[in-house]
Amino acid sequence: MTREDLIAGLNRDLEGEFQAVLMYVGYAAAVTGPHRPMLKQFFAAEVPEELAHAQFLADKIASLGGVPSTTPRAVPVAADARQMLVHVLDAERQAIQDYKERAEQAAAFGDKGLATHLETIVEDETGHFEETEKILRGWR
Ligand SMILES: [Fe+2]
Ligand SMILES: [Fe+2]
Repeated sequence: MTREDLIAGLNRDLEGEFQAVLMYVGYAAAVTGPHRPMLKQFFAAEVPEELAHAQFLADKIASLGGVPSTTPRAVPVAADARQMLVHVLDAERQAIQDYKERAEQAAAFGDKGLATHLETIVEDETGHFEETEKILRGWR
């Protein structure tokens, strides 16, 4: 695992965190229907944590000698509340997979502290994933 490859991977993760911030801010604002009050709160509550992930990654990328990306992954358009939740579920599933991979790469690179922190982010994203899955369970 080279430093350049690790930086590139962390920058892809950072782009995913920027997507998450934009997605949760946008969906909290735009969600409609009888579940709006609950979903607005649910989406908005994720923003500070995703932003903290982004800040951690940007700091680490700079520490490693890289330049933090400023480009988010595209936020998928959603026609209704259920579709928003499906997009969130997909994004959180992707984040879990990415951070598991990045933690292994960080360990292979020899940065135990980074590997450990990335595993705590896997835990955060797993919490988001599971809460979203519970809301979607049985949603018609
Ligand atoms: Fe995150
Ligand atoms: Fe998340």
